[in-house]
Amino acid sequence: MKKRYSINDVAKLFSITTNKLRFYEKKGLLAYQRDASSNYRYYHNEDIKKIQIILTYRVLGFSISDIKDILAKDDKESHLDHFYNHWKAINDKIDKLQLLRNSMEGLIDSMYSSDESNSCELLIQSITNLNELTKTKDSWIDRWDFNSWAKNYDKSVYHGKGVLNMYQHYEEILEKVFTLSTKNLNSDGWVLDLGVGTGNLAQKYLNADYHVYGIDQSREMLNVAKNKFPSLKVRLGEFMKIPFADNSFDAIVSTYSFHHLNQYEKSIAIVEMLRVLKDSGVIVMGDLMFENEQSRQKLFANLTGKQIEFINDEYYSDIEWLANEFKRHNKSLEYIRIDLLNYIITVT
Ligand SMILES: C[S@@+](CC[C@H](N)C(=O)[O-])C[C@H]1O[C@@H](n2cnc3c(N)ncnc32)[C@H](O)[C@@H]1O
Repeated sequence: MKKRYSINDVAKLFSITTNKLRFYEKKGLLAYQRDASSNYRYYHNEDIKKIQIILTYRVLGFSISDIKDILAKDDKESHLDHFYNHWKAINDKIDKLQLLRNSMEGLIDSMYSSDESNSCELLIQSITNLNELTKTKDSWIDRWDFNSWAKNYDKSVYHGKGVLNMYQHYEEILEKVFTLSTKNLNSDGWVLDLGVGTGNLAQKYLNADYHVYGIDQSREMLNVAKNKFPSLKVRLGEFMKIPFADNSFDAIVSTYSFHHLNQYEKSIAIVEMLRVLKDSGVIVMGDLMFENEQSRQKLFANLTGKQIEFINDEYYSDIEWLANEFKRHNKSLEYIRIDLLNYIITVT
């Protein structure tokens, strides 16, 4: 006969109350059977296993309805969906707490150095900055729908070359970014590829045995990257909310991604990159850029209205502005031009 456990046995086994088990039953997470003569609930080993799973998800902070869905659809994709949603919620919380801590630090420091008459203004200024930052971080959306591009992405960059021929030197750019970023990198260096896409750049670091993580905001891009390179570690994440601790990486690299952030978003992303980069680390980015406003205007003078419209749908960086932005954080920037619109910047 199959081993049976009473509700008290199960509660004792997991150090929980019997009410908790009844609650899970009421919510439809857990079934039970009743003894024909005593009418008491009893559970089998399969139920014990299920309770263990429910409790583990609860410890991880999953909601009852999420757990119900995970248990009902027992497939990898659905699990990953829930895990990634939960991962995003956790990272958003951490990011908010970090912002709050920074604001409080700033407030405490300025309270010490200011007189009472302007303390209220300081407080208002701090809250205003915090609100603006949080709003910008939370409102970035993928207007370009990278999820729907993921499956055909490689075909279009390797064969299509793109509007304005922007992918004509794709492979060369990836190779240069790799070479520049690994010039002084120890063989056990940690590399972060931001906007990893289908993993073409990250692959180079994998082949050379570096520890490499790829971050992208698109689940589908990550799926393609993971299918192509099963040993690549990928994480759902955004430029402005990098889901890693301070000082984690020796090199941050990125290609064809940074131009999806406007200038204010870029300045926030720069702070984020420098937070997760080690002091001695390097940032190397290949992307669509202009040297400065004059060169943008000069180039636009030779383009058609449609081409200009296409460029203006994204946010090509102004290298002069980027250099100043990094300088504010005591970093210096060098750049090389690859073709009409493609540049590679190195920040140390
Ligand atoms: C044109 S693809 C480039 C992919 C890859 N780096 C390459 O060179 O082939 C741009 C990638 O950046 C990602 N991306 C764009 N904006 C992002 C953001 N704010 N945070 C994270 N990823 C972003 C997109 O999801 C997409 O995968």
